[in-house]
Amino acid sequence: MDPRIVRLDLPSDPYSIHIENSWTGLAPAIKPFVGNKVMLISDENVKELFVHDVKEILISLGCQVSLAIIQPGESSKSLELAKSLYTQALNANLDRSSSVVALGGGVVGDLAGFVAATYMRGINFIQLPTTLLAQIDSSVGGKVAVNHPLAKNIIGSFYQPKSVFINLHTLRSLSDRQFSTGMAELIKYGFIWDKELLQWLEHNIGSLMERQKDCLAYAIERCCNTKAHIVSQDEKEKGLRAILNFGHTIGHGLESTAGYGQYTHGEAVALGMVYESLIAYHMGSIDRALIDLLICLLKAANLPTKVSGVKVESLIKAMTHDKKNRDGSIVFILPTGYGQVKVFDNVDTQLIYSVLEGS
Ligand SMILES: NC(=O)c1ccc[n+]([C@@H]2O[C@H](COP(=O)([O-])OP(=O)(O)OC[C@H]3O[C@@H](n4cnc5c(N)ncnc54)[C@H](O)[C@@H]3O)[C@@H](O)[C@H]2O)c1
Ligand SMILES: [Zn+2]
Repeated sequence: MDPRIVRLDLPSDPYSIHIENSWTGLAPAIKPFVGNKVMLISDENVKELFVHDVKEILISLGCQVSLAIIQPGESSKSLELAKSLYTQALNANLDRSSSVVALGGGVVGDLAGFVAATYMRGINFIQLPTTLLAQIDSSVGGKVAVNHPLAKNIIGSFYQPKSVFINLHTLRSLSDRQFSTGMAELIKYGFIWDKELLQWLEHNIGSLMERQKDCLAYAIERCCNTKAHIVSQDEKEKGLRAILNFGHTIGHGLESTAGYGQYTHGEAVALGMVYESLIAYHMGSIDRALIDLLICLLKAANLPTKVSGVKVESLIKAMTHDKKNRDGSIVFILPTGYGQVKVFDNVDTQLIYSVLEGS
């Protein structure tokens, strides 16, 4: 497979997203940014798989590597853990010319990015994402954050990496459930922006689920291109970037009411996309065939399409606390056609109830 490069053309901080099937091109992709001291942050699972190779490459670039391995899981995205990483960075004498390299999924990326953004008011940051979700979503676009016990991702910043390097081969060891969770976001890109990706998915989702490398390369490159385009138009989410939240109004509501853990993020987003599309259908914005295609793709990706046992009352209550909301009304990103969505803040509450209750 030929290496592919997606550019994220921010006026202040342009950078490249490299897509390859091995670590071969890693050294040249990060050499200008690593400095002589690097904090390599990863988690226990990823450590066993890829830390050795990446560390060797950093050493070959002349870097002194300070390795920080965190526990896998959302609870590691905390201020306490960030503090222990600052301590480690200080003990390793990291300075303004040093860098932080994140090797792992979105948890590692968000936490490492937060540390990179705040240590000495910001040092170079490099993303090596190893989950499908991180490769098409969290590693691109510069949102970094830790959680507060009262709210997810509430302490954070926009801080762009200097380089993103995606080694598709890392996806081979990802669990089926984690792969599917990333598929929800991948399918989302089709519905919010990329009609051609939808057409391609109709024919190729089977091979993609088998993680066939050319299919992965094609789909991941398209998603990174879409995200890069959206972020370059609206880095700080003042407008267009909000469309990335299709499926997330109900999805986030489900994640918090069903209790974190029952649904993965992608599973909740899959359900969110189904019910938000039903709302759009009842508002007359789309035809039934769009929902059929959505459900067909989600099923092929082993994602849920029907919620059960959820208390609609508490789900709607959770949705009214969403960060996207303005002036008390729930904001939805709803489909208006294939590869097309719009922001709505005037959805009839009764309609939301009846769609969710029909579940
Ligand atoms: N910054 C953003 O724009 C953004 C966007 C979406 C999601 N996020 C954040 O991303 C996080 C979720 O990320 P995630 O879905 O990658 O989960 P994750 O980081 O928890 O990784 C999922 C699991 O897979 C393991 N793993 C990672 N790579 C592996 C590999 N190649 N082989 C085998 N196992 C591997 C991890 O150890 C972990 O147990 C959430 O905290 C979410 O808030 C951020
Ligand atoms: Zn998401």
